Amino acid sequence: MNKDIVWHQHDINKAARAEQKGHKAFLLWFTGLSGSGKSTIAGALEQELFRRGVHTYLLDGDNVRHGLCKGLGFTTADRQENLRRVGEAAKLMVDAGLVVLAAFVSPYRADRDAIRALLPEGEFVEVFVDTPLAECEQRDPKGLYKKARAGEIKHFTGIDDPYEAPVQPEVHIHNHDRSVEEVVAEVLAKLQARELLS
Ligand code: PPS
Repeated sequence: MNKDIVWHQHDINKAARAEQKGHKAFLLWFTGLSGSGKSTIAGALEQELFRRGVHTYLLDGDNVRHGLCKGLGFTTADRQENLRRVGEAAKLMVDAGLVVLAAFVSPYRADRDAIRALLPEGEFVEVFVDTPLAECEQRDPKGLYKKARAGEIKHFTGIDDPYEAPVQPEVHIHNHDRSVEEVVAEVLAKLQARELLS
């Protein structure tokens, strides 16, 4: 960092924002294979939080790749840059007092840990959406697994690219044969147990 660029401390801080909004701010990071249910669960959870008056924002892999992360592909370096940008954007949103939900494949532990390191202790909640590859492939909502198996898409996570499962996620969702409502209730209970939500 250029030594002539100095951090300016503004008067309104995170604690003041939390008091105004009536809840804490934190980042819920959903990771899992394509088709595992990350976006569906994050979307349903956001609706429930919104209903309770929580100020939320949902960052979704497919969506940010249309703008903030436009032009990035799926090589290891591109995924790293994709997640670095998303992590920085999410950090700003948490600083602004929001509960941020982010749903990204984020297959590499190092990339997820780099985002964890951006936030103060306790404000990064890793949610592992653990759905067996066979199940994701069977669902194949966008037909991408079929294309990856046919060699039409390269670097597809779970097929010819790795997925490094979280070692100690704050929330581990076994998302096989379970309803979205059930899973949302489980995540909410975990957040309450951590005193992130009242
Ligand atoms: S990453 O790894 O976190 O940067 O990926 P992300 O930004 O979440 O984008 C994942 C979505 O892009 C589609 N897609 C792929 N996923 C994985 N690997 C490859 N090669 C790939 N190519 C396209 C896929 O639809 C992912 O969406 P989800 O919602 O996870 O199914």
